[in-house]
Amino acid sequence: DHIGWELESIEKTGFSHFMEKEIHEQPEAIRRALRGRLDREYATGHLGGLNLGSRELLEVGRIVLLAAGTSYHAGMVATYALEELVRVPAVAELASELRYRNPLVERDALYFAASQSGETADTLYAMREVQRKGGRVLGVCNVVGSTIARESDGGVYIHSGPEISVASTKAFTSQLAAFYVFALLMGRMRHLSFDQGARIIEALEAVPKQIETILANTAPIQALAKRYASCEHFFFLGRGINYPVALEAALKLKEVSYIHAEGYSAAEIKHGPLALITEETPSFFLVPRDGLREKVITSMKEVKARRGPVIALAVEGDREVADTADEVLFVPEAHPLMYPFLLAVPTQLFAYYCALARGCNVDQPRNLAKSVTVE
Ligand code: G6P
Repeated sequence: DHIGWELESIEKTGFSHFMEKEIHEQPEAIRRALRGRLDREYATGHLGGLNLGSRELLEVGRIVLLAAGTSYHAGMVATYALEELVRVPAVAELASELRYRNPLVERDALYFAASQSGETADTLYAMREVQRKGGRVLGVCNVVGSTIARESDGGVYIHSGPEISVASTKAFTSQLAAFYVFALLMGRMRHLSFDQGARIIEALEAVPKQIETILANTAPIQALAKRYASCEHFFFLGRGINYPVALEAALKLKEVSYIHAEGYSAAEIKHGPLALITEETPSFFLVPRDGLREKVITSMKEVKARRGPVIALAVEGDREVADTADEVLFVPEAHPLMYPFLLAVPTQLFAYYCALARGCNVDQPRNLAKSVTVE
């Protein structure tokens, strides 16, 4: 199903695994996802394949994102960006669940089916169910000409290039890029001023370079993974727009290293998970510089008080977080909405290096398939 991919792009070209290669391709993949889609003259986004005029976009009163696995987590991040920039209610739903709950398809709702492969059965059938009820579904796919891309009412290609590793990495950040362009476009039709739109463009264009900075210094991540790879349980904790990033980080670690990991909102640990905190169960906190930083630091202290090892992924120069945590990794400072891109990358690398340390089959984890075309 990858007809058309260039041969060189499906070779590992110096990397040990496709997962490692694809993690490192993210700056370029994001640039491709953004190329020609950021309009500086009007400080807005441009997406040619939506098949929706501005009048129709103006009538959208609700956005629903359907997906599975990593694409679902990208959709969850997108709901925060959409609500912030567009001020329209947005929800992400597991396609597998939506399909069987007799969904209420309202006139003013706009649906997205997000799928790297464009072939995931759960997502495809959920899309058809919505369409059967008269709903409009846009595809957010990587594979050109895939079933979801063909059957959707329009959409966006993310242009990641072939993703071979079963565990999805670059498709996640490229999906975010595509959703952010859509949020910018819709936001500029509603509440965002020219200046606010221009700031989002600038922030988006800075992301590939910021990721390059992270990728230029992977040694601390690898060293950390080596120290913790023998743990059997892990928590990943984030808040707000980075809560889904914590879910995705836990999924990555589970998939490739077979370490049991749970993603939680840092706020929720007091409602149960704290009971599992011991000296053997590390908690990996995502602590960007945003409005929730103080709250996350409080959660870190709660874990420390129960003798749980605390790893923090913080913003360069954040001494307070570094002093509170047992271990710290840094990402560059960014626009608050862009942290999901920057925090995802070190957690992907962490999962990759843990899998290496444990001798796992990184690119083809046991029991998993790249694209699940059966229910
Ligand atoms: C499979 C893959 C995951 C992927 C999910 C959704 O389970 O192993 O990596 O996130 O399907 O795939 P899609 O192609 O729809 O994004």
